[in-house]
Amino acid sequence: MSKFSLTPKQIVQELDKYIIGQDSAKKSVAIALRNRWRRQQVTSEIRDEILPNNIIMIGSTGVGKTEIARRLSHLVQAPFVKVEASKFTEVGYVGRDVDSMIRDLVDNSYNIVKSEHEITVREAALEMTNERIMDLLLPPLNNPDKESAEYQRYQTTREKMYAKLMAGDFEDRQVEFKVQEDSSSSAMMQIFSPMGMDDLGMNIQDMLGNAMPKKKKMRRLSVTEARVLITAEESDKLIDEEKVQHEAIRRAEQDGIVFVDEIDKIAVERGGSGPDVSREGVQRDILPIIEGSTVKTKYGTLTTDHILFIAAGAFHMSKPSDLIPELQGRFPIRVELENLTEDDFIKILTQPKSALLKQYTALVGAEDVKITFNKDAIAEIARVAFEVNESVENIGARRLHTIMSKLLEETLFDLPNENTKSIKVTKSMVTNTFKDTMADQDLSKYIL
Ligand SMILES: Nc1ncnc2c1ncn2[C@@H]1O[C@H](COP(=O)(O)OP(=O)(O)OP(=O)(O)O)[C@@H](O)[C@H]1O
Ligand SMILES: [Mg+2]
Repeated sequence: MSKFSLTPKQIVQELDKYIIGQDSAKKSVAIALRNRWRRQQVTSEIRDEILPNNIIMIGSTGVGKTEIARRLSHLVQAPFVKVEASKFTEVGYVGRDVDSMIRDLVDNSYNIVKSEHEITVREAALEMTNERIMDLLLPPLNNPDKESAEYQRYQTTREKMYAKLMAGDFEDRQVEFKVQEDSSSSAMMQIFSPMGMDDLGMNIQDMLGNAMPKKKKMRRLSVTEARVLITAEESDKLIDEEKVQHEAIRRAEQDGIVFVDEIDKIAVERGGSGPDVSREGVQRDILPIIEGSTVKTKYGTLTTDHILFIAAGAFHMSKPSDLIPELQGRFPIRVELENLTEDDFIKILTQPKSALLKQYTALVGAEDVKITFNKDAIAEIARVAFEVNESVENIGARRLHTIMSKLLEETLFDLPNENTKSIKVTKSMVTNTFKDTMADQDLSKYIL
């Protein structure tokens, strides 16, 4: 993990920019993250004994569980994947096998490590690339005699052209060169992939790719386009692939975080039958991964003991206690997310970096129209959303999306309009839009 890991307070501060309320969930997540870093600082053997405290976030639909995960993924400089528990099925059934979440984590880890290495060799790779592009623009002499006048002339021309290349004069020039083709194996992949190739554990693509000689294909591209491909090739030559893979495994093992969303969908009341049996099967399949086991990936074998798991679920139809006891035991930390209040709705509409009102302001702004929302109009939107949640179905902050799209439907249809340069959304606009639907419950079920 990076040396400058965020402190718990900083993590909460970052999350605060996007998520309103839910302080205890933010706090738990922040502590768990920081504990990863703290463990890394421990040098004695006790380090191996310190296991992550996995977390279950429990909260109604639309209160910010997935949103926390989404924002977290941008925040942590650690391998991170978000998976949906409902996508997995028991061994032997159609669906993704549970090991795939770990393979995805390693892929993510690999990409992080690879791009770090790419940065360190970037300068050298660019230099090599420019030389190769020069060779394409002005092919080198065959067996030149370095003393000859011809060679001297060649060198002078080359230097001049190099300067022009650096100045960007040749960017549109077409060059023809050979590029590595890896599509030979991906064509095969497409034939197989309906079977769920990634779930077979090994990287068939690599196996096939290595078995067949790498094909090179002639391509004609502009210098700008060629540079991208050639730089990638050159930087691959400079990077120690084995080292990258090794580090990718190590980081996934030590710093990896797996967010298991919708875990409630695999919880069932015990003693059931039919699809329930399969859901319990998924729990049994997941268990060893969370308890600590080894998983084979294309970059090597990895042990899962120290991976942090954060699970989330609405638990409308089931309870955390419906999970098999062994699994419950592996999630010692439970945090509840609160239901959102009318006041929270006002904040959600206005405060987060990508708040809904900011989004609509930007959309309408694209038509050169300035839209503003009166304070009491915003309060009314929040009130309507809250009321519909109470009377129809509580879908949390998602209700704000339905209310807003209904409120602005006519406006968004009408624009662009010569006569409209600005729009002021007032409280009475909100009231008028929703008064009929609010009065009729059946109607609001369909419309909002
Ligand atoms: N506390 C919050 N602060 C800001 N925005 C929120 C909050 N809660 C929900 N939202 C908004 O509502 C939308 C739905 O939230 P989210 O996807 O996190 O729900 P969830 O808790 O995962 O629900 P589900 O159980 O249905 O998956 C998000 O796109 C987000 O914009
Ligand atoms: Mg969710």
